[in-house]
Amino acid sequence: MKFPVIIQGGMGAGVSHWGLARAVAKLGQLGVVSGTALDAILARRLQDGDPGGHIRRALAHFPWPKMAQRILDAHFIPGGRQAGARYQKTRMHVVEGEHLTQELCIAGNFVEIFLAREGHGGPVGINYLEKIQLPHLPSLYGAMLAGVTVVIVGAGIPLEFPAAIEALANHQPATYTVHIADGQGDEATCQLTFDPAHFLEAHALPPLTRPHFVPIVSSNALAAILCNRVMGPLDGFIIEGPLAGGHNAPPRGQLKLTGDGQPIYGQRDEVDLEAMRALGKPFWLAGSYGSPERVREALAAGAAGVQVGTPFALCVESGMTADFRHALLQKALIGDAKVFTDPLASPTGFPFKVAALAGTLSEQDIYESRRRVCDLGFLRTPYRQPDGTVGYRCAAEPEAAFIMKGGKPADVAGRKCLCNALTANIGMSQSFADGTTELALITLGDDYTNIGRFCDTTHLDFSAADVVRILLG
Ligand SMILES: Cc1cc2nc3c(=O)[nH]c(=O)nc-3n(C[C@H](O)[C@H](O)[C@H](O)COP(=O)(O)O)c2cc1C
Repeated sequence: MKFPVIIQGGMGAGVSHWGLARAVAKLGQLGVVSGTALDAILARRLQDGDPGGHIRRALAHFPWPKMAQRILDAHFIPGGRQAGARYQKTRMHVVEGEHLTQELCIAGNFVEIFLAREGHGGPVGINYLEKIQLPHLPSLYGAMLAGVTVVIVGAGIPLEFPAAIEALANHQPATYTVHIADGQGDEATCQLTFDPAHFLEAHALPPLTRPHFVPIVSSNALAAILCNRVMGPLDGFIIEGPLAGGHNAPPRGQLKLTGDGQPIYGQRDEVDLEAMRALGKPFWLAGSYGSPERVREALAAGAAGVQVGTPFALCVESGMTADFRHALLQKALIGDAKVFTDPLASPTGFPFKVAALAGTLSEQDIYESRRRVCDLGFLRTPYRQPDGTVGYRCAAEPEAAFIMKGGKPADVAGRKCLCNALTANIGMSQSFADGTTELALITLGDDYTNIGRFCDTTHLDFSAADVVRILLG
């Protein structure tokens, strides 16, 4: 692959959907779809009537027509849900791997990559979070069936991806080690297995192209560990600093907070680019690299390019609703953009960047008035129950349930249900019987304050092509 200068960062859930990734890939840069929650997103798009028919068009190309039909029968509502009707629950992933849950996951990933690649030859990647391990194997297989070019993995140490890619490219069973917390809070492991043969219909498929594997790291030390220990080919790194949108790696050493409660990063968190260059792999820098000056700086430092998220999250092709985008842009253009690095919000325990916006969970009173529910479950972590079986818990679920499952009481404070909030950001919030809906929580990087590079109050909307053009100077 010819390495592009710009990687449009994967932005979950559904912010970097196929439309954004396609727009970027058509320009020859790397368009990346978010691989988070694609099963739930597929089901909800179908329940919204699949406007434009894109999902049905992609499913018509799915290699297994009976599976595609089962998915349509289960989720498609011609004309869409009635106003205010609840979305159906999708089943949550479990370590044993349930067949129907995995089918939806394979198809969700296939559809997203198929549509992002449709009608051009540009490169398309997919972004997974190592913290969300249970759907890894069916997700990866679905994306590979649709010809994904690059697999990017953040938020963890994804040592086993290359081996899984290799096995799935040959339609062979793949395995993945997941972490299981035991009753004492210690970590044990268990192995997921996924066998493509269980999904086969009629005829065997030819081998699939092996996508490139590019992990996201926050330090040169982690990059070196991956180089030494990863089981298979590793094609480059994205180095993401603490200014980036989404989750940030926690600061090294003991957590210290600013007066208003944000993590303090120091010299130990700076990446040694000399050490990165010595590893001999291409690397891209991320975290407030959304300007031509910063792109030039990255290239001069030996990087292959930059990964940029925030400006793409706010461009017209983004999956974020136009109402949220416009409100955020207007705020920034009058100098009122605020991003808070919240050490508590994410149930993963990683700091999470939150953009202040009225009517969203960034406001304390709105957050406190939400009744906790866990009905999407992507951030649940497996734990060992007293009878030896595996249970699941999330620090943002109802407090009593989390504590009854052995979760620490100290872990529930300030946690936000990112699954529901992030689906609300893309216009798919769950509805309740009383007419209310789940509320949004927007994540953007610190670069949000500089969005005036791309727009002004008379021209709020800018495109992915504008971002690419401006970044490349
Ligand atoms: C709305 C939004 C959602 C994001 N979601 C993810 C994600 O799901 N996985 C991931 O690895 N990075 C995620 N990121 C980080 C981006 O991929 C990218 O690395 C980062 O935005 C680059 O820094 P910038 O925001 O300063 O441009 C997200 C960023 C934003 C703005």
